[in-house]
Amino acid sequence: MKARWLALPLGLAVLAGAAARAGEQAIPGVTNAYQARTDYQLKCQGCHRPDGSGDDHSNPPMHGIVAQFLTVPGGREFIGRVPGVATVDLPDDRLANLVNWTLFQFDRAHVPASFRPYTADEIGRLRQNPLRLERAATRARLVAGFAKTRPR
Ligand code: HEC
Repeated sequence: MKARWLALPLGLAVLAGAAARAGEQAIPGVTNAYQARTDYQLKCQGCHRPDGSGDDHSNPPMHGIVAQFLTVPGGREFIGRVPGVATVDLPDDRLANLVNWTLFQFDRAHVPASFRPYTADEIGRLRQNPLRLERAATRARLVAGFAKTRPR
């Protein structure tokens, strides 16, 4: 009898958990949002901050900005080649999952309607060629292009 009373709240809790996961899984290219969040906490937020706000001297904010790279030529490749992404010790599939999650988590509004999620193959290819000293200039050139496509 006691077990029955326990079964209902337990069942509801399981359902709620499944719904939360299903909600998170609605992000294109993200097969495991929980994994992505955890990987972000372990590998990225030390520089980009938990809320993606970065800082005003060395680590760029992602909040409201990062998906704009997808709107300029070369930006898609840039994202896969910045050292923080390319050299992280995660396998390609987990990194693709994380990058897709990052784009939607911090800048969903700027993700183009035509966006094709990064696949493990694409990330694997891009990260073989990490940006080095040229990255600041490359980034500045891409950011300069934002203004033209900014919906304002
Ligand atoms: C050691 C600090 C550091 C870590 C750790 C780091 N990043 Fe970055 N990230 C940067 C810096 C600095 C840039 C600007 C480009 C550059 O100079 O590398 C950048 C750029 C980026 C960009 C391109 C957007 C832009 O504004 O330049 C993305 C996307 C990104 N990082 C995602 C990530 C993800 C995802 C992780 C975790 C796997 C991560 N970063 C880990 C410092 C870091």
